Amino acid sequence: MTALNLTGVGTCTAVAYANIALAKYWGKLDADNNLAAVPSLSLTLKALRTVTAVQFDSNLVKDEMTLDGRSAAPGPLRRAVHLLDRVRRQSGLQQFARIESGNSFPTASGLASSASGFAALSHAALQASGLPTSASAVSRLARQSSVSAARSAYGGLVTLEKGAPEAEPLAGLEPTLELTFVIAITNKGPKATGSTSGMLHTQGTSPYYRAWTEAAPKVFREIRTGLLDRDVRRAGEAMEHSTLLMHASMMAARPALIYWEPATLAAMNCVRQLRDNGVLAYFTMDAGAHVKVLTLRREATVIEKALLVVPGVQQVIVSGIGPGAHGIASP
Ligand code: DP6
Repeated sequence: MTALNLTGVGTCTAVAYANIALAKYWGKLDADNNLAAVPSLSLTLKALRTVTAVQFDSNLVKDEMTLDGRSAAPGPLRRAVHLLDRVRRQSGLQQFARIESGNSFPTASGLASSASGFAALSHAALQASGLPTSASAVSRLARQSSVSAARSAYGGLVTLEKGAPEAEPLAGLEPTLELTFVIAITNKGPKATGSTSGMLHTQGTSPYYRAWTEAAPKVFREIRTGLLDRDVRRAGEAMEHSTLLMHASMMAARPALIYWEPATLAAMNCVRQLRDNGVLAYFTMDAGAHVKVLTLRREATVIEKALLVVPGVQQVIVSGIGPGAHGIASP
């Protein structure tokens, strides 16, 4: 990944890891306050990492940001400035800031870079402004920028209730469960429609959106209960239902929102075949074409090998459980 160049006095650097939702969030209860319309449950992944450095500086005349070594585009910069504005309001600080952020994985292609990005930025900005950096404070600040980012404040399995201001860890399962995601990367370009506009479009035009919000809480509970009972098959089966319900609501929007590519369907079929052969494997897709396969560590290699030969799959990433957002020594 891109090395950060920002160093010196007043620089705070934080790392956060992307999370994949087993129970999906899609839709806003309150768009102004960025509150989720449905409960979600995710796993934080150590292979998908963002490192972000923040430095408030009285010499700056505006906020500046680089992303993977390049000047950030207006969209991501605007969202980062809004986050910094909240931190300035909370802390009383008036200076502008310099932000440098780097991802270990393709940005904005449906691999949850906004989750790790805003969680890392929240931690680094809170720390640089002298505000508390508890996971709860990071989660609350990150959620205002991106709902899924609230979950990356914590490691392992994390829940975010409908309308909740912050996420909570689902404690106690990680060491024994050895949950693993095997991620089939089907394209590396930026996604066509971002999550925020995609979900608002679904909410505004899809006759299936209401059915989705009605079904989602039950599926969320099934996934949570499956995990608490250490029944990964039950959780996995409900996880597939969650993603397919969500994608059905997107496909019924006008115009339709279809994130899948031929490789997405081929990878889904591959997962079904693996399962027919007794392998523990369940798929989920987000606002992108990649297929993320839930399994246990001991089964990951078989799944990785099978996905690597699926037409259109360009790369496979295997990831175990990652920690919550935290500060690191500035380089
Ligand atoms: C499909 O959290 O990116 O990945 O709150 O508008 O920033 P905003 O949306 P975002 O949406 C993520 C949607 C998802 C499902 C999920 O992660 O739960």
